[in-house]
Amino acid sequence: MTNPIKVTVTGAAGHIGYSLLFRIAAGEVFGPKQPVILQMLEIPPAMSVLEGTAMELQDCAFPLLHDMVLTDDPMVGFDGTSWAFLVGAFPRKAGMDRADLIGRNGPIFVGQGKAINARAADDFHALIVGNPANTNALIAMSNAPDVPNERFNAMTRLDHNRSLSQLAAKTGANVADIKQMIIWGNHSNTMVPDIYHAKIGRKKAINAVGKRWYKSYFKPTVATRGGAIIKARGASSAASAANAAICHVRDWYGGTRKGDWVSMAVPSDGSYGAPEGVIFSFPCVCPGDGTYQIVQGLDVNEEIQEGIRKTGEELLNEKAVVADLLS
Ligand code: NAD
Ligand code: LMR
Repeated sequence: MTNPIKVTVTGAAGHIGYSLLFRIAAGEVFGPKQPVILQMLEIPPAMSVLEGTAMELQDCAFPLLHDMVLTDDPMVGFDGTSWAFLVGAFPRKAGMDRADLIGRNGPIFVGQGKAINARAADDFHALIVGNPANTNALIAMSNAPDVPNERFNAMTRLDHNRSLSQLAAKTGANVADIKQMIIWGNHSNTMVPDIYHAKIGRKKAINAVGKRWYKSYFKPTVATRGGAIIKARGASSAASAANAAICHVRDWYGGTRKGDWVSMAVPSDGSYGAPEGVIFSFPCVCPGDGTYQIVQGLDVNEEIQEGIRKTGEELLNEKAVVADLLS
């Protein structure tokens, strides 16, 4: 039997946690042969709810779930952990932007970054989901100086998946036939959903849907979908966010599919004119060994270049706001 790996989920008693934990324990992220120990981190007022969630996990009798740790201490939650989903943060309410959460959520990632630096395993990797995800990832990364920067990602996979579904609905294609979608930049309204490289079957997506629909319907619909869900549900996306986190880490760990790429917010190396020193979403491929590469050499038109400039500027502004949380 393979040795279990430790997987940390923060905010484990929350809405996303409730969808995420069961699918990790079922083997949907690390595969059907890899046992896991779930280390679930919460804050003291949520510990009793977390105990209920743990009872349900136990009642599922998942063969791959070898142990569970329930804690409100980040030093325990990140102890020896190899993969972490940093979900624990407050969600926005209707009428707010994600960036309005920085003051409340940013400090959470200082303490967690320090605990990761002190206690995580050498092969540690983290996906930051809590909003504003890109800047929270930057805060965690900066407070964990001994962990390689590229081990910190933020999540734009939900925006990527939303894009695939919108294209499928418009064209009647199956999502599996759509490839090479890109989300550039920030997980915010300035994100740039780019279909100029995407293909639906053998056809170019932009020719299949037309520029007018792409610019006037698709781009704003994808960019503001999170807000539309909050308006409809009275709460932010949860099951679809957990699903996107599963897709992101499954591909990072196990590899992206041949001939395709995925959108991952990663430490920017300045590719495509994105500013360096921020966590920026790029098209990435993963070979299946826990690394990723930013896809290089794509022709990016002026419309997309301008979008990359604006979303990059927003990320630099967010970085300036949290300057005192970076070390
Ligand atoms: P929720 O309020 O249901 O759950 C959040 C949980 O985090 C709560 O149980 C809370 O007690 C816990 N928490 C708060 N501070 C913590 C800390 N310091 N340590 C550990 N746990 C802590 O919210 P949710 O719906 O699960 O959403 C969580 C976050 O994910 C929000 O910030 C939301 O905006 C964000 N989100 C991001 C995306 C994305 O695409 N990147 C998508 C959906 C939601
Ligand atoms: C989303 O995109 O659904 C999440 O980031 C939640 C939100 O605040 O929009």
